[in-house]
Amino acid sequence: MTYLDNAATSFPKPESVYQALDAFARHDLANPGRAGHKMALAAERALDDCRHLLNQLFHGKEPERFVFTLNCTDALNMAFKGVLIAGDQVITTDLEHNSVSRPLRAMELAGHITLTRVRADSGGTINPDDIRRAITKQTRLIAMTHASNVLGTVQPVAEVGRIAREHDLLFLVDAAQTAGVIPIDVQEMSIDLLAFPGHKSLLGPTGTGALYVGRRPRSLPGVRAAPAAIPPARHSRGSSPISSKAARPTCSASPGWRRAFATFKKRGWRTSTPMRSR
Ligand SMILES: Cc1ncc(COP(=O)(O)O)c(C=O)c1O
Repeated sequence: MTYLDNAATSFPKPESVYQALDAFARHDLANPGRAGHKMALAAERALDDCRHLLNQLFHGKEPERFVFTLNCTDALNMAFKGVLIAGDQVITTDLEHNSVSRPLRAMELAGHITLTRVRADSGGTINPDDIRRAITKQTRLIAMTHASNVLGTVQPVAEVGRIAREHDLLFLVDAAQTAGVIPIDVQEMSIDLLAFPGHKSLLGPTGTGALYVGRRPRSLPGVRAAPAAIPPARHSRGSSPISSKAARPTCSASPGWRRAFATFKKRGWRTSTPMRSR
């Protein structure tokens, strides 16, 4: 069989991913963060390792700012429902996947927000100046894809991020088609919320994704505490040093995950994944 659906979910995964998953399922598959026994600590370490690796990969502010989700759709919904309040205007584009356009449209139909869709040019690219022109006093969020899943066109997110900062707006990027393909630096690109899947070009298993939440969403008036900005819970018993920064100032990923990460890096952040899906 020739598998051609990589932009929906990648297959096959590198051998090191299968090995890491197999070893994890055989030896460490306990409840993380709820007990002090060896397997629970190992499971917690795997989560913590993954947060550290993601923080390195996307140059995040802290590993604790990555919330694991079911997929990219889940991360996007979490972001919209976490930061938008009644009366907000959201600026988005006509290039968005259903996972962005449908929840936003539902919130618009419910009378919760107003929505402005900026149109791409004939080449399939958004002009940042069109976004700037769409900003009003009610705008809270600019939400856009990093690359269109239909056209493959990569969008000027760093420029749009700069505009968002200039106007003190939140900036959300849907990196479903770029995480693991194109380098993303959330600080340099002024990204406040980065939603991405683990199961596409990051080459992880299905049922994985994450939302990065920067420091700004929480500080804006009226915005609920975004889940990722809440510090990791303290354990009632068998308290593990894993989440303590003093104990683990740098990433110390387990050999399996480190191998998977190295394979990924060796590919020059690229896979054969075409920028297209469904
Ligand atoms: C641009 C874009 N955003 C979001 C998604 C949703 O990703 P997931 O399948 O992880 O929910 C996809 C899926 O193909 C996509 O292409």
